[in-house]
Amino acid sequence: MIHLTDREFRELVDYMGSHYGIDLSKKRLLIESRLCSVLAEKKASSFSEYFAMVRRNGCGERNAMLDRLTTNHTYFMREPDHFRFLRDVVLPRQEKTNAGRDLRVWSAGCSTGEEAYTAVMVMKDYFGARRAADWDLRVLATDVSTRVLEEAQRGVYAPESLRDVPPRWKRRYFREDGQAFLLCGEVKREVVFKRQNLMEPFPFLKPFDLIFCRNVMIYFGQEAKDRLVAKFYDALKPGGYLFVGHSETIQPDTSCFQYIKPSIYQKGT
Ligand SMILES: C[S@@+](CC[C@H](N)C(=O)[O-])C[C@H]1O[C@@H](n2cnc3c(N)ncnc32)[C@H](O)[C@@H]1O
Repeated sequence: MIHLTDREFRELVDYMGSHYGIDLSKKRLLIESRLCSVLAEKKASSFSEYFAMVRRNGCGERNAMLDRLTTNHTYFMREPDHFRFLRDVVLPRQEKTNAGRDLRVWSAGCSTGEEAYTAVMVMKDYFGARRAADWDLRVLATDVSTRVLEEAQRGVYAPESLRDVPPRWKRRYFREDGQAFLLCGEVKREVVFKRQNLMEPFPFLKPFDLIFCRNVMIYFGQEAKDRLVAKFYDALKPGGYLFVGHSETIQPDTSCFQYIKPSIYQKGT
């Protein structure tokens, strides 16, 4: 196994922190184990040689390294409390207050799309076919990894990813094809996927009603996390909600968000 020197380790930690917000300062072993096979594949004799390759070859190689160093695990109906809150609190309130029938939802750090697609199913279920037609329910889903975005757009899932999907939705929104489940077009076309590095300025012109950013900031350093939470605040409408992962918290002294319940925050009206 090729040894990662202290200098190389610091270089990679700085790079991942400053470009992506991801804090790998306690992940030395993970870096070595995940990148080792790439070094062999690329016939690089040291990490420095591999980093030089990444810098030279631009986007493609950078994305491949990012994919090795990030965690993309996700599944449908993950952390179901959020989807219950969407159904029981967010959507009834939207019905009363959103005269334009334009509900803007963003899944930030969407990975392979299950979170965004689950939100669409909840909204379709809530509104039913007749009322859904009155609403613009499209969800924006973004990630820094182009590989996961491509998978998300394909909408082909392993059975494990659907283990918490109610049988009724499984029948209605998926088609079984051998060992895989294919998501139907009715749900797929409601999600727009785009690449967005959350550390870069947001290009969105209109504010959101709801932002999911779950199990993403858990990998970020505190400073990157604080900056991102402030950007989410600005990207929400007054009264809009931010959902974070259940093991994540937002420090009350570093943000203007109002705490609603664990992992749910609201921008003041
Ligand atoms: C564990 S997945 C979370 C998926 C989903 N939100 C959930 O809770 O199941 C984390 C995702 O965050 C993405 N990510 C990490 N850093 C990012 C950044 N700086 N900008 C955008 N996405 C990022 C990763 O590529 C990965 O797909």
